[in-house]
Amino acid sequence: MKKLHFISGLTITVFVGLHLFNHCFSILGAAKHIEVMNSLRGIYRNIFVESILLSAVATQIYSGLLLFKTKRHTSNTFFEKLQISTGLYLAIFFVIHLSAVLSGRFILTLDTNIYFGVAGLNTFPFNLFFIPYYFLAVFSFFGHVSAIHHQRMNKPILGLSPHKQSIFILTTGVFFATFLIYGLTNRFQSFQIPSDYNILIGK
Ligand code: HEM
Repeated sequence: MKKLHFISGLTITVFVGLHLFNHCFSILGAAKHIEVMNSLRGIYRNIFVESILLSAVATQIYSGLLLFKTKRHTSNTFFEKLQISTGLYLAIFFVIHLSAVLSGRFILTLDTNIYFGVAGLNTFPFNLFFIPYYFLAVFSFFGHVSAIHHQRMNKPILGLSPHKQSIFILTTGVFFATFLIYGLTNRFQSFQIPSDYNILIGK
């Protein structure tokens, strides 16, 4: 089960790396974000890659929940607790996020581009939910990686002990999540959300 979880986790990590890289471009405005998403969609928006990705997510949730059940009573250290709590959050996030993206695409027939992501993030009171929801997702991703690093790494890098390396990954997660929320909540430019997306914010 652990091996399966690790393999599906690595598959998802490749996509999440590209996906979060894409979200960095929100700082330069919607047009740039869409331009980058259109090139990345060339890689993942096809039946073959999406089937692998969605199967990996389903495997990750299932194996993760089983691991959570066995590990929750034996996790004592900070990083052990971080691993199971971020894993649980990511499992819940994946179910909500993917249901939203797939319903947006197939039921509402919307282009699930940046406007789909930022409509709720920039509208009160929906932002009260979406800001912590996305912040915690990005933080949990880094937190989960930092906990795995803590478990597996036993060598210093550039004079940093494995423990400090894990703290570094976790801290990077906090800054990175803040940066993404900053860009996605329109701190530099105004997103003019097209009216097609009004349905997402009850207009
Ligand atoms: C930072 C805030 C985030 C926003 C605003 C966001 C938004 C989106 C959007 C708009 C899509 C549709 C992409 C497309 O149609 O090409 C999408 C897809 C997806 N996102 Fe996110 N996302 C965020 C964070 C995350 C995180 C942290 C993860 C995982 C840990 C994640 C996992 C996924 C997955 C697996 C897909 C489905 C890809 C597919 O098969 O089309 N997202 N997201």
